[in-house]
This record gives sequence, structure tokens and C-alpha cells, in this order.
Amino acid sequence: MRYGILTSGGDCAGLNAVIRSICLYLYRNVKNAEIVGIPEGYGGLIRGESFLLRPEDVEGILAQGGTILKTSRQPYKKMTVPEEGGSRLSKMIANYRKMGLDCLFTLGGAGTHKTAALLSMEGCNVIGVPKTIDNDIFGTDVTFGFQTAVEVATDALDRIATTARSHSRIMLVELMGNKAGWLTLYSGIAAGVDMILIPEIPFSPDDVCSRLCERVRAGNRFTMVAVAEGAVLDTEAKFKKDERVFVRAERGESTVTAHLAELIAERTGAETRTSVLGYLQRGGTPCAYDRLLSSRLGGYAAMLAEAGKFGVTVAVSGNSVTYNALADIAGRYKLVDPNGDAVQFAKGIGIAFGDGT
Ligand code: F6P
Repeated sequence: MRYGILTSGGDCAGLNAVIRSICLYLYRNVKNAEIVGIPEGYGGLIRGESFLLRPEDVEGILAQGGTILKTSRQPYKKMTVPEEGGSRLSKMIANYRKMGLDCLFTLGGAGTHKTAALLSMEGCNVIGVPKTIDNDIFGTDVTFGFQTAVEVATDALDRIATTARSHSRIMLVELMGNKAGWLTLYSGIAAGVDMILIPEIPFSPDDVCSRLCERVRAGNRFTMVAVAEGAVLDTEAKFKKDERVFVRAERGESTVTAHLAELIAERTGAETRTSVLGYLQRGGTPCAYDRLLSSRLGGYAAMLAEAGKFGVTVAVSGNSVTYNALADIAGRYKLVDPNGDAVQFAKGIGIAFGDGT
């Protein structure tokens, strides 16, 4: 049996642990198994590139950040566009066959899973492993990479809070998460911030500023606001994404953070600063939870391959690992429920969400 592995989309901690676990399981349990790595995600498959992944190649990578296979973003919407030599999809299918693969493992986010479902429909044996720091993939309770990002972001928020306290400032800290606010929500709660702004709950600048003015008047000497990069003003919520991008580009911004900070400084009179955590949340060694989760998901994906169960993606359900049909979850997102317990309890202990409640 010949297996291919690729990592696609934004990287995160835990990818190498998944790769290691898949390889170790297959080499130890499948007779004559051969495993190839496909570099740079679907880009390597489009170009027909691969290299042998031997057991010794995955030794010592469990705790290593990033992906030894490298990754790239290949937009799903370009997969079936006619190009010289055929569409990207047709090139991937041809190369899957030319490589003599019996199974392809695709480690990636929602977009990666959409393309994986396409390959599966075209007859390739595909098994997905859901990956993202955003934890926004439908059908699984948690994705590997998320917990490490929460640890990193919470530590950063704690550190920024000490300087906010020293300077009696309002600090806006921007976290990753374009479509879903899980990372900002969980890290914000864990760090005890005063306000959390996420894409799923469009916020009113008036409400944000009046809440902050109340804090200043009540003598709260500093305030911490966690802002997801995908957070939107209530006045923007009706815009399409392109329109929002255009309006912000006119201000020379891509997110609301800087604009909101200016408004807050103006209306509260408090010293206000911003800090963008950016790629810190994607880099570095996986936390212990993610090392275990990644190893478990990789081993389970390998077991599904050994059993000949293709066209699926592994998932976490409670304390168990399971799988979903790729067709059922491809391209679907798991967003924060504004009426869910996490948001409701946070509001109950006094964390504001900018929506007036
Ligand atoms: O999808 C994960 C993610 O980190 C998002 O949170 C973030 O908006 C995006 O990737 C950044 O993409 P890129 O790495 O292409 O800049």
C-alpha cells in the first residue's frame, strides 16, 4: 500500500505530531507500507511532487512546530478553472494516480476539506484530519492547534494586562479568527478580560465606548479588550465582505482594531493602545493537549486507512474520536453561538460583548 500525506492552508502547532503518528502507525501495522510526503499542500500535488517519508524522517518531530511537509493556500474556487495542461483538480487526480497512491491524507482547514471532498468524489481515497487554530470546522468538537493557540494568546493577554495596569490604559488586543471567534472568546475568558469582540456578535461602538466610560468613571484604572480580527461593527454587518474590505482599505486598515481604539481614546479620554498577536498564535511547539490530540487523530486516521475507510475526516466527539463523511462537512463552519452557554455565562460574570446586553 502506498500512502500520501499533505498539509494545506494556515499552519499550526501539532501538524508534525499528526504526520509522525500516521507514519509510525502505518509502518508498524501495514505490511509493505510506503509513505510519501507531498510538499506545500495541494500545490505539491498539482505539480506532481513527492518524496519518501521513512520512519527515521519523523523521529523527533512530535514537539516541533510547523510542518516538515511545508504548506500553501490553494483556493478551492480555482480548483476547477481551466488552465494550461488542465484544471488544478485534473492535475491532482492525474498525479494521485501517477504516484500510485492507495490513500491520501489531507491535513487542513475547511477549505482543504472542500477540495478533499472533490478529490474523493473523483475516485481518490482521501482521509482528512481537521486542523486550524480557529476551531471553526463543522463536525468536530475541537481541532488540533486550537488549544496551543489559546495557551499562547492567554499568556500574551496576561502579559499585556500587567503593562495596562502599570499605565492605567485601555488595551485592545487583536487575535486571529476571521470567521469564528472561538480563539478570542476562550482566551479572553481565560485571561479575565473585560470585553470580547467576535465576528458572530456585531458590536456597537457607542455601546463599547459607554461601557468603557462607565469603567473609567467607576475608577477602574485599566481595561482589557480582546478583539477578533474578524470582529465587525453593527453598521458593517449588513455589508458583504468585499464592501467591508473596501471601506476599511480606505482607512488603510484591514481590521476594526485601530479604528475602534481611536474612537475609544476620543470618547473616554483614556490612554488607549493596541497590540496584534498575529502569527505568535500559529507558531511554536504544540502544548501537551495538542500533542496528545494530534497523535490520537493521526493514529486514528491511519487505522481508518488500514480498514479501507475512505472519503471521511476524523473528528472529536466528547471524549471519543470518530469520523464524518467528507461530503457532509466540507466547507461548513462551526461558529460561536451568541446564545450559547460560553457567551451567556461570560456575560453573566460581567464580560461585555459590545451588543448592549
Ligand atoms: O486559518 C487560520 C488563520 O490563522 C486565521 O486565523 C487567519 O486569519 C489566517 O489563517 C491568516 O492567513 P495567512 O497565514 O494566509 O496570512
